[in-house]
Amino acid sequence: MANGKILVTGGTGYIGSHTVVDLIENGFEVVSADNYQNSKASVLDGIEAITGVRVVNHTIDLADPVATARLFEDTAFDGAIHFAAHKSVGESVKQPLAYFRNNLNSLLNVIDGLQSQGSSNLVFSSSCSVYGNADELPVTEQTPRKEAESPYARTKQMGEDMLYDYCAAHPDFAAILLRYFNPAGAHPSGKIGEDASNAASNLVPVITEVGAGKRERMTVFGTDYPTRDGSCVRDYIHVADLAHAHTLALQYLIEGKASENPALFNLGIGEGLTVLEAIEAFERVAGQSLNYERGPRRPGDVVAVYADRSKASRELGWQPQYGVDDIMRTAWAWEQKR
Ligand code: WQD
Repeated sequence: MANGKILVTGGTGYIGSHTVVDLIENGFEVVSADNYQNSKASVLDGIEAITGVRVVNHTIDLADPVATARLFEDTAFDGAIHFAAHKSVGESVKQPLAYFRNNLNSLLNVIDGLQSQGSSNLVFSSSCSVYGNADELPVTEQTPRKEAESPYARTKQMGEDMLYDYCAAHPDFAAILLRYFNPAGAHPSGKIGEDASNAASNLVPVITEVGAGKRERMTVFGTDYPTRDGSCVRDYIHVADLAHAHTLALQYLIEGKASENPALFNLGIGEGLTVLEAIEAFERVAGQSLNYERGPRRPGDVVAVYADRSKASRELGWQPQYGVDDIMRTAWAWEQKR
């Protein structure tokens, strides 16, 4: 029995495609909207191979208000998960306007679209980067957001603010902000994973590409930070665990369980790993050493961030199943297959 029809923007992207699979496995009907700016249509084959369902994707630019309005005129949705966005911290430092234009306009258009059909229930992809260089670790949902360290992070802060203001004005519109820590790994089936058309810049795909010989070596961006080995600390969360949190979040919204609007959740595993420790995990799992060099800091990086995830576990019933070795194992299997 269908739980409802859900619009997944960025449904062929990395987190989007894993979430589409999880939603289908939990009885939702999914419609995707993705212009393939940083994904490939072949992802739909992978989703079909896992679920047996051929998902319809609307190839539209969600920053285009006319095209987005048309999508909402044609189909009634019970909710939307808005993934579609530019997501590279380094690129955002070089091209800030592209990030503001794309990430903010697409969110505005999706809110407008839901409102135009009297629908509610929006799950927004936010980011741990909204915490900036937090004063306390792990960060809880109460930890104050600090100055954004990159235009990417600022678009996520502004997206959150937009939803706070919108929900205050429209209390019947229910939203959830999910602050992702560092999503990594691939679907355990090996049929979907990160398949971006843009060059990989996130740590785990860079590591597996070096491991597979697609890149000669990688650089550890900064080894003079005030951390246990000098490299940055992050909270790597398996993408399948992250995907399932979206299904739980939607159910929570649809069942009206949220006691705040928007509701806010950290989605991380709750442990910090340094860049050098992540490389060691790969070396252990893959049984090979990685060619890397120690280099300068990357502009826009925060020193350390990891989550207190107790709120998501308590209120959504979310329990991550995978650890860092599973992340590396599935990412490595996917890289070798690609
Ligand atoms: C992780 C660590 C790098 C590449 C951002 C967003 C987050 C999420 C992921 C959306 C950092 C280091 C990386 C390399 C390196 N957003 N690194 N060499 O910047 O923490 O997080 O992207 O998808 O919300 O904030 O992720 O994977 O780029 O970097 O040393 O070649 O790995 O400096 O310390 P980041 P990342």
